[in-house]
Amino acid sequence: MPAQPYDIVIRGGTVATASGRFLADVAISGETIAAVGRGLGPGAREIDATGKLVLPGGIDAHTHIEQVSAGGLLNADSFESATTSAAFGGNTTVISFAAQHRGLDLRKVVDDYSALAARGALIDYAFHLIVANPDAKTIETDLPALIGEGHASIKLFMTYDLIKVDDEPLLDVLLTARQNRALLCVHAENHGMISWMGKRLVAKGYTAPKFHAISHPRGSEAEAFTRLITAAALIDQPIMIFHVSTREGAEVIRKARGEGLKVFAETCPQYLFLTRHDLDKPGLEGAKWMCSPPPREAEDQEALWRALALGDIQTVTSDHAPYRFDETGKLSAGPQPTFKQIANGLPGLEVRLPLMFDAMVSKGRPEFGGRGLEAFVDLTATAPASIYNLPNKGAIAPGLDADIAIWDPARVVTLSDQMMHDRTGFTPFAGRTVQGWPVHVLSRGRDVIAGGAVGVAPGTGRWLKRQGGWAAEPTGRLTADMDPERNFGARLL
Ligand code: URP
Ligand code: ZN
Ligand code: ZN
Repeated sequence: MPAQPYDIVIRGGTVATASGRFLADVAISGETIAAVGRGLGPGAREIDATGKLVLPGGIDAHTHIEQVSAGGLLNADSFESATTSAAFGGNTTVISFAAQHRGLDLRKVVDDYSALAARGALIDYAFHLIVANPDAKTIETDLPALIGEGHASIKLFMTYDLIKVDDEPLLDVLLTARQNRALLCVHAENHGMISWMGKRLVAKGYTAPKFHAISHPRGSEAEAFTRLITAAALIDQPIMIFHVSTREGAEVIRKARGEGLKVFAETCPQYLFLTRHDLDKPGLEGAKWMCSPPPREAEDQEALWRALALGDIQTVTSDHAPYRFDETGKLSAGPQPTFKQIANGLPGLEVRLPLMFDAMVSKGRPEFGGRGLEAFVDLTATAPASIYNLPNKGAIAPGLDADIAIWDPARVVTLSDQMMHDRTGFTPFAGRTVQGWPVHVLSRGRDVIAGGAVGVAPGTGRWLKRQGGWAAEPTGRLTADMDPERNFGARLL
């Protein structure tokens, strides 16, 4: 063995994976984890992790970066600012969106977002393909080609006037996803209910931000989940339901999974730590807590924690959607907007992992029964790597990318607007105190964050090519020996 076999050895920490924790050194050669074990040989550089946790870097699989919103507004972050913020929060991979709008060519959209990310990203990234213009070229030509090139997931919206797709194009996209082995991710809320409620609330003068929550009826989520799952079952296509916010929504998912349907789901810190009462602030201040779906009730938080522990919901993402509280963002419609004129979305890249760590590891949410650390790693890194086809990410094991976050489990931090590194200018979690903080973050062996400073240049993050295929294959109902004219007509397509 050469005297200096490794570039870096992270020594003496507690390594945690989704399945266990153990005292071990982690050796890195080049961009890759070379060895995990006790008493490893020397590294050219040694990082002392005594008393620390050595965890896989977080994967935030739902982030809106440098993106034009449903309402046509460019959000506040660049790939540089967003991935800086993500890295300070312990993440080493983000999946953001190549967001088509009506009339736009999907291939050009992907080229444009790719150029922005290639210039700015500090950590590795991939894209979900948002389809808002489901014409023949998009469905039959661009989607198959782009999926084949390594963009293995699509996103649709069932609500928002300017980008929603109705049931027929939803089926078109489900079928294309199935034929090309892509995952379909969906923002599922009943558009008619939200639109109807919004118009009537505003007409009666109920215009303050808190009415945003009331305008998204709880049932609009369960209804849309049921419709989506029914459509996906017709095509036998695996789906990911984004940002689950209600107990009823989680119950719909539990039932579908119990029937063997290939339904994945995510929730976000805003549904685990905030409620609709957070929107009830003087004047327009509540706009900072406005996102879709809205935060709900304390009892929904409890139901979502249970769903995470039961495995009904497999991932926790930030749904980072950064709009400043000024005329460039939340107040872009003027100084006195109705809630219908305020951009939806919260920043969250930097606080997702600390909030989850504090709840699951430091405070030890009881649902996880002493396995909070492993569950934290799974929900925030390992499961997203598996669901979104990132085979070199999401765990600490020889041969994988050296994407590592070293956590100080004792560090106590009070979150504030000033400490955030994104460009939103506020965090809806300001004032909360968390225990546990990522103090050193390596991406492919590079010090992205060390000693409180950024150690890599913008543009050094890499696009991650993702092959098609699903973490859970379709049920096989359409290929089984079933009568296509009875209930499985999609077999004939
Ligand atoms: O309010 C949110 N979540 N805004 C971002 C876009 C979306 O709906 O995911
Ligand atoms: Zn959404
Ligand atoms: Zn989103």
